[in-house]
Amino acid sequence: MTIIPSGAALAAEIQNVDLKNLSDRDFIEINAAWLGHLVILFRHQQLSVEDLIAFSRRFGELDWAPVQETGRRFVEGHPELYVVSNVIENGVPIGSLGAGEAVWHTDMSYLENPPKASMLYALEVPPAGGDTHFCNMYRAYDSLPDALKQRASGLGLKHDATYNSGGYVRQGLAATDDPVLSAGVYHPLVRTHPETGRRALYLGRRRNAYLHGLPLAESEALLDELWLHATRDEISWHNQWHPGDVVLWDNRCTMHRRDSFDPSSRRILYRTQIKSAPGEPA
Ligand code: SIN
Repeated sequence: MTIIPSGAALAAEIQNVDLKNLSDRDFIEINAAWLGHLVILFRHQQLSVEDLIAFSRRFGELDWAPVQETGRRFVEGHPELYVVSNVIENGVPIGSLGAGEAVWHTDMSYLENPPKASMLYALEVPPAGGDTHFCNMYRAYDSLPDALKQRASGLGLKHDATYNSGGYVRQGLAATDDPVLSAGVYHPLVRTHPETGRRALYLGRRRNAYLHGLPLAESEALLDELWLHATRDEISWHNQWHPGDVVLWDNRCTMHRRDSFDPSSRRILYRTQIKSAPGEPA
């Protein structure tokens, strides 16, 4: 196995490995690379749904995927699988998020106990566009001026549950653009990673985010400043997808976004999510 750091602020490609046939020793090395590089990429994988689920399970128990915007599950018999796709078959979308931009976010941070990791496996990708970008939230925290670090460390942030990253309203919720009243949960704005012990900014999603107890205008101004700081190119990396790519990222210390792409082309990826340990605070 060869681990090749991307040279950017995060991410490494792991070569010479077949995710269908991993020894325990290989897995320990992969897990350490993931914790160190935050995002890991494997190319040229040929996985069945069962292989993908089995590899994902090595990192922990899997979450069931949220239901689609249509209210349906994605893949019969595999509730762990979420399909990210713009493809429509027989008038019905086979997946979520369409072909538009998916804005910067951390997966499912609107839950009390959000998943620690997410994995995407590319089946079909468009000839251009649809790249996925990741940013390093340890670096975002570490590079804050001291006064801002101190201020941020005492604050709680509401993570809005209303919209997904494609801008669709989640099942059972009413559209709103009021950050104070919208549905969501509070997490500390600065979190300590339970495995690495490092501190990271935890921003979730910008839309309807709200800093507990602050006047709305002050919350908006501080959040704008933190978001600009956290999503700079210097602390980001992106993957240009090829079929057979597997990317695993750590939701506790990264955010991600996706570029839009030509809606007449096809993009199909399967996603799994790995639960945090029970009761593990964000
Ligand atoms: C996601 O936000 O989980 C999907 C990212 C992508 O479509 O590349």
